[in-house]
Amino acid sequence: MNAIVDITDHQRILYQHNEMTQGDAGAYSAHRTHLTSAIIDCAPKNATSLCLLGAGNCNDVSLPRLLELFQQIHLVDIDEEALGRARKGLSKLEKTRVIAHDSVDLSGLFKNFSDKIPSAPAAPEELAHEISVNVLGSQLGRHEVVVSCCLMSQLDRTLIDVLEGRKRANPALESYREGVMLGQLRIMTELLAPGGVGIIANDLLGSGQVDLDSIHERGDLAEFTKQAILHRRCDPSVDPVRIRQLLRRDPILKRASHEVKTVGTWLWTVTHKEKYLVQALRFRKVE
Ligand SMILES: C[S@@+](CC[C@H](N)C(=O)[O-])C[C@H]1O[C@@H](n2cnc3c(N)ncnc32)[C@H](O)[C@@H]1O
Repeated sequence: MNAIVDITDHQRILYQHNEMTQGDAGAYSAHRTHLTSAIIDCAPKNATSLCLLGAGNCNDVSLPRLLELFQQIHLVDIDEEALGRARKGLSKLEKTRVIAHDSVDLSGLFKNFSDKIPSAPAAPEELAHEISVNVLGSQLGRHEVVVSCCLMSQLDRTLIDVLEGRKRANPALESYREGVMLGQLRIMTELLAPGGVGIIANDLLGSGQVDLDSIHERGDLAEFTKQAILHRRCDPSVDPVRIRQLLRRDPILKRASHEVKTVGTWLWTVTHKEKYLVQALRFRKVE
């Protein structure tokens, strides 16, 4: 089966998107404030090291604020240039404390799909294992806080673009999706020091899917989000019910994580036409 969108084309699109959004700090402002506060509020006492997965240009966090709390911040992304841009505004001293891990594929998909596009379902646990072994080989260290910066929807975009494009359903999609989600959660757990906190920030719904303009008129944000989650309206790759189930059911995650809870829900207005409903879930790694 031929790739609908070649994986290298997809990678180029990712890089172009990061390049295009590099000057968009203003549009990320409210989102950045919320995500940065969620990280600060969740950090255990005496936290020294933070790891941001899908850090990109770091438009969605305030590095100067986070540097007041953490000794070291580790940025992980597939896009080397985006991480370069994220560190650009930092002082010489700050740069020694903000470490870039570039060219790290957090999905395992770029290697997997480089020469063949599978049509048969892969076993999610095997894929998750392969992904986490690959990523952990990149020596990313151990951290008191690990954050997934709206990465899950991006990884799902890769899957959909490469496996399906706009043409037809690929029977392999659902098991790849499960494997990639499981892989992300296992990576986060592995990167956490005992007692550390993982934060999964996800864009649950976009204005392309649902009318978010009148959300305040319709009632409060919490009730709207509760209903959206209850009625499983969020994309499957970011569905909080599914993420909680994976944390509960996967034997590795079940042993290693507890205290799962929602730590923030907010509306991110990019432009008057483009809005996202974002939610952050957190879990704690067992001591
Ligand atoms: C939604 S963006 C997060 C925004 C980013 N934190 C910023 O402020 O620019 C997701 C990020 O995930 C990265 N990404 C996408 N697929 C990836 C992969 N397979 N491995 C590592 N990073 C990936 C993209 O390069 C992008 O920087």
